[in-house]
This record gives sequence, C-alpha cells and structure tokens, in this order.
Amino acid sequence: MRFKGIIWVIKFPAVLLKTFYHKLNSKRFDRNFHEHIRAVYSDPLFTDESDKFQKHRRKISELASNQGKNRTVLEVAAGAGWQAVSLSNFDFDRVVATDLQKERIDFARKTLRVENIEWMTANITDLSFEDKEFDVSVVSAGLHDLPKEMLSEGVSELARVSRNDVVIFEPTNYPERNFWGEVIGFIGSILDESNHFSDFVKTDLDGLFSKNGFEKDICCGVWSSIMTIKRYRRKV
Ligand SMILES: C[S@@+](CC[C@H](N)C(=O)[O-])C[C@H]1O[C@@H](n2cnc3c(N)ncnc32)[C@H](O)[C@@H]1O
Repeated sequence: MRFKGIIWVIKFPAVLLKTFYHKLNSKRFDRNFHEHIRAVYSDPLFTDESDKFQKHRRKISELASNQGKNRTVLEVAAGAGWQAVSLSNFDFDRVVATDLQKERIDFARKTLRVENIEWMTANITDLSFEDKEFDVSVVSAGLHDLPKEMLSEGVSELARVSRNDVVIFEPTNYPERNFWGEVIGFIGSILDESNHFSDFVKTDLDGLFSKNGFEKDICCGVWSSIMTIKRYRRKV
C-alpha cells in the first residue's frame, strides 16, 4: 500500500500535465460532459493501481458503517474501486460499487478481484435502485466533476436511494463565495480534471442536501482542509 502511495507521488507531475492537456482539448473540440469524462478516465495514466486518497479511505468507510448500524452500502462514481475495497473490509451485508465509465468498473473488477463487491455501470443522475434500497451511499471525489444541473439531480438520486446516510469526500465548499472560494476555485479549475471545479466549490452543498431531506451530521477537513469528508443524515 505504501509503495502505491510512492508511485502516486512520482506520477503526480505527469498527471497534472495530462490533465491540463485534456482540459485544453475539451475547450478546443468543444467536448460535452460525457466526452470529456470519457477522454480523461480512459487515459491509462488516470487508470492505474495507485491511490492518492489511501490515507482517508478508512475514515470514510467508518462514517459509512456508523458502527455497524448501516448494513448495506452503495458507492457511486467508484472509479478504480479503492473506496469500495475499503468498504468491503467493513462488516456490510451488501456492497455495490458503480461508475459512469464501464472501463473503470472493468478495471476495478479485474485488478481488485474482491468477491463481496457487486460492480455496476451507472450514472449518478439515474440510479436503477429502489427508494431507500441502501442504508448509506458514498461518493468519493465524484460530485465535483458534475455540471450544476447534474449535481442537483445526483444529490436527489443519492437522497432517494439512501435510507439513513450519505457520506461524501469532496473539495471543500465555500458557498459564501469568499476569498478562499475564489482562490481554490481558480487553482482547481486549472489543476483538477473537472471542468466544473470552480462552480462546485461555490455550491451550497449543505443546502442542496437539505432540500432533499438530509442534514449535515459530521464534517471534517483533510488535506489542509482543501478536501472535506461529510456525513449527511436523513432528517427525522
Ligand atoms: C476523481 S474519480 C474518483 C474515483 C473514486 N471514487 C476515488 O475516490 O478514487 C471520479 C469518478 O467519477 C466518475 N463519474 C463522473 N461523472 C459521473 C456520473 N455522472 N455518474 C457516475 N460516475 C461519474 C468518473 O468516471 C470517475 O471514475
């Protein structure tokens, strides 16, 4: 695991350059959301066996498990599957991991070979699950990729399929649009793969969850508070 972390540090400059290249191409060829996401996440450099969020996986899974009270979990935008693996090490009865990109799911299924995870392709805006089918859903570094309308639809879908909780791990929000929101939004719009980073950090995510019947329960900053782990709980 430590070795994979070191690989990530070595690769980081190349990933930054390639991200910049994809964003330029996105503008040049006027790519839509799906074309951009496909171009980025089918790039071999972004599909590897290293995990830059390795240190935080356990904390996210602990919050999702809620001391074993949540028995079923859905992960959305699972990517290469690292969070799903962490979830599968907790005592859940069912772990389902989904991503928009079939290649990402195929990669996770093939490389991770974890038996107690159900892998599926799914768009966060259209989840083919029953209302409250899962006790908890988890999104790690997936929401900030979404354009505004998709983000609202995605949060509604997470709220619909989650009985108790939704846990997210995303760039920190500055809905009050203060100085830090502008600075982080600007830097992220250059360095991050998302074409919607700046809008995301200025979004009132707590308000969006509140509209869908969930309130913030736990919130902790990581990576010098550039990223935040939050748990939202269904309002009673
Ligand atoms: C930065 S990666 C994060 C992957 C993983 N959750 C992690 O923590 O490493 C973002 C992932 O979101 C997925 N994604 C983007 N838009 C999506 C959507 N509309 N529905 C589902 N997944 C989406 C991408 O395919 C990509 O795998």
